Amino acid sequence: MRKKVYWIEGDGIGPEIWRSARPVIDAALAKESDMTLEWVELLAGEKALAETGSPLPESTLSALMRADIAMKGPLGTPVGAGIRSLNVALRQGLDLYACIRPVRYFQGIESPVKHPERVNMVIFRENTEDVYAGIEYAAGSPECRMLREFLCDKLGVSKIPATAALGLKPMTEAGSKRLVRRALRFALDNGLPSLTLVHKGNIMKFTEGAFRQWGYDVASAEFGDASCTEQDPLPGRLLVKDRIADAMFQEALLRPEQYHVLATPNLNGDYISDALAAQVGGLGLAPGVNMSDSLAFFEATHGTAPTIAGRDKANPGSVILCGALMLEHLGAPAAAKRIRAALEKALAAKTVTVDLADQIPGAITVGCAAFGGIIGENL
Ligand code: NAI
Repeated sequence: MRKKVYWIEGDGIGPEIWRSARPVIDAALAKESDMTLEWVELLAGEKALAETGSPLPESTLSALMRADIAMKGPLGTPVGAGIRSLNVALRQGLDLYACIRPVRYFQGIESPVKHPERVNMVIFRENTEDVYAGIEYAAGSPECRMLREFLCDKLGVSKIPATAALGLKPMTEAGSKRLVRRALRFALDNGLPSLTLVHKGNIMKFTEGAFRQWGYDVASAEFGDASCTEQDPLPGRLLVKDRIADAMFQEALLRPEQYHVLATPNLNGDYISDALAAQVGGLGLAPGVNMSDSLAFFEATHGTAPTIAGRDKANPGSVILCGALMLEHLGAPAAAKRIRAALEKALAAKTVTVDLADQIPGAITVGCAAFGGIIGENL
């Protein structure tokens, strides 16, 4: 079987990490499956700007709208140049509403905590709503004054200082439920023991509090036979629980083994994803996928690393692990397992790129191409 995978090279370190990662992904698949990948490049970012005059050509968006699998390297966002973030444009344009990040520990990496191996969680972060909707008004602007007047005059709000900036936090039942539904399905398909709704509903009752309630509602209405709650625990069923966001950060440090899948609104998910990745010492190794109902769009979670671009110093690990996630998604879990084992072997041998060498006592530094080669041999 041949499977079409659209890919975007990305800016900065994009070209070199892809050169290093793609052969690893293809080779792992060849060892475990008769499926092959047909890589079809789509243009975005600086390469697209140079070739077509647009950083996000219409042809790229329309191909992605029809696609079911795609992968991307990092895309730079020129600061203050009038171009909004390409990543945000892709997420919104393609309705990639679920940002999914697995976080686990790789043996040998130095971590700031005593037991990083106890962390093994998959975070489902809502990707389109919440304060990321970008509806905010600068202090003192006419729009801000109008909004404040409306709130004070029509809704009787009395607590907004005239000097305040204002922002909105839209969250919908449909948007929250589709995210939690996907997380529930994932937890059940993978036989995981628990799913935790992470919210700040004690303070923001009608947005974050509603997210919590909608989450429980979708669990009981659609997965009632397979799930249970802490109030009414049942053996053999998926335990659906909730934690207030600040308590969740404590739990992640104190009792991470009690958490398996987290479902979160946009901002909480942003914070907890990076905090958990840092806890296992693996920000540079974290893979991720953004999903709509039709497209799984895998992406390295780091940026373009402009200061090391083109110098054969970048770590291709995040793209390689994205490849493993993609192979799992395509129904080749043995190939994914092979990739992770090959990476673990490279870490154990302490022959790694410079960012990892900084975290592994006694490590020998190799370049991006050589590191990919070592992982390829370890397959
Ligand atoms: P960054 O992730 O590019 O860099 C942060 C630090 O990590 C730097 O020291 C960098 O050298 C290092 N680093 C990142 N990836 C690495 C890798 N694979 N191997 C070795 N070292 C690595 O974040 P920064 O500097 O905030 O952003 C640079 C550009 O990337 C910006 O234009 C930003 O908008 C964009 N960006 C894009 C993302 C995406 O496409 N998903 C995500 C984050 C940032």
